[in-house]
Amino acid sequence: MIRAVDIIQKKRDGEELTSDEIKWLIDGYVAGTVPDYQMSAFAMAIYFKGMTTREISDLTMAMVATGEQIDLSAIAGIKVDKHSTGGVGDKVTLILVPLVASFGVPVAKMSGRGLGHTGGTLDKLESIKGYEIERSQESFIKQVQDIGLSVIGQSEQLVKADKLLYALRDVTATVDTIPLIASSVMSKKIAAGADAILLDVTVGEGAFMKNIADARLLAQTMVDLGKAVGRKTVAVITDMSQPLGTSIGNRLEILEALEILQGKGREDITEFICELAQIMLGLADVEKTVPEIREQLHNGAALAKFEEMVAAQGGDVNDLYRESAAAFIAEIRAEKDGYLAELPAMEFGLFAMRLGAGRAVKTDDLDFETGIVFEKKVGEAVKTGELLAKIYANEKISDELVTEFKKNVKISDEQKKVREIIEVIA
Ligand code: URA
Repeated sequence: MIRAVDIIQKKRDGEELTSDEIKWLIDGYVAGTVPDYQMSAFAMAIYFKGMTTREISDLTMAMVATGEQIDLSAIAGIKVDKHSTGGVGDKVTLILVPLVASFGVPVAKMSGRGLGHTGGTLDKLESIKGYEIERSQESFIKQVQDIGLSVIGQSEQLVKADKLLYALRDVTATVDTIPLIASSVMSKKIAAGADAILLDVTVGEGAFMKNIADARLLAQTMVDLGKAVGRKTVAVITDMSQPLGTSIGNRLEILEALEILQGKGREDITEFICELAQIMLGLADVEKTVPEIREQLHNGAALAKFEEMVAAQGGDVNDLYRESAAAFIAEIRAEKDGYLAELPAMEFGLFAMRLGAGRAVKTDDLDFETGIVFEKKVGEAVKTGELLAKIYANEKISDELVTEFKKNVKISDEQKKVREIIEVIA
């Protein structure tokens, strides 16, 4: 007879588990016969002892089997999905999905919510008045057939094991371990049914992977998992030492996404997203140059696709361009000359969370209007008194809060170089 305690002990002692043992534990967990406390111990054992490639693959497939798998075959063409392992100010999906769809490549994407210092695409979309994130599978597929794209919330029926396990990991300090991140991400991507997958593996202070070696290992593990089940998979390792782009916060990020979609965004994030689009299009056998992709931003094609998606999902397109309605705005100015050397993503993600832009726990309500807009990013020259950032809040912004913000803005004499895409793993 298989017993959970024996499986936990085996992993605790660094032994390799069989496929049956892994499947038995995951099925038991979803069925409620393996309790949270045993699953927590198991997750912690994995954290310390790791898993072999074969074990990670078995864990992933056991997780996939705990929910429904979406059949996208009714949509013509190669369907490409994208997933980020989490970041601060990460509004990439909002721009990338319509940009790729504007070339005729269908994107049927399920996104998640933010937690802790990280944001979630779903929350950002929900900050658009009327935008519906819950759709039946039929209407999701129909929308992609009709207009080429849809971004909705992940179905409750998909990878039930991940829902339970992710919540458990979140409160047992077992999120940041490669076997559990790889199986969590890839089980959802495999179940979501796309033919090809672009993985954005973030690295740095604000990411789960703090160094490039770990990010590389996570990326390769996920690419191998995808390929093993016949999905074309590419991973990019991207910088998350500072927030992505200029804004953190739901409405503020929608506004930044719209700017980029109109070809009026910052050069660095625009180039970054065009490079991601090139890879994503390549996965669908559509070869385009970065200048050709940029043209879709300048000629309005990508923006039109985004507006089309918003309208199709009940969103108010007129409300899209509304400024943040935050009641209080504080300006942060440079206190010396030099170069912006650090904007720690984690610290600013947590800061924005405290303003109401993110959730500390899953049940927290969000304030869509609050957040931060940076006027300067790492590597840029600043002069004393120059505007560095604005804080948007719905409660009076105290001097202590401003001091805390400033403590995290580091200015130095040396100019740092930033590379958005650090490596591509295919
Ligand atoms: N994103 C996920 O979906 N799962 C993880 O475990 C970490 C990031």
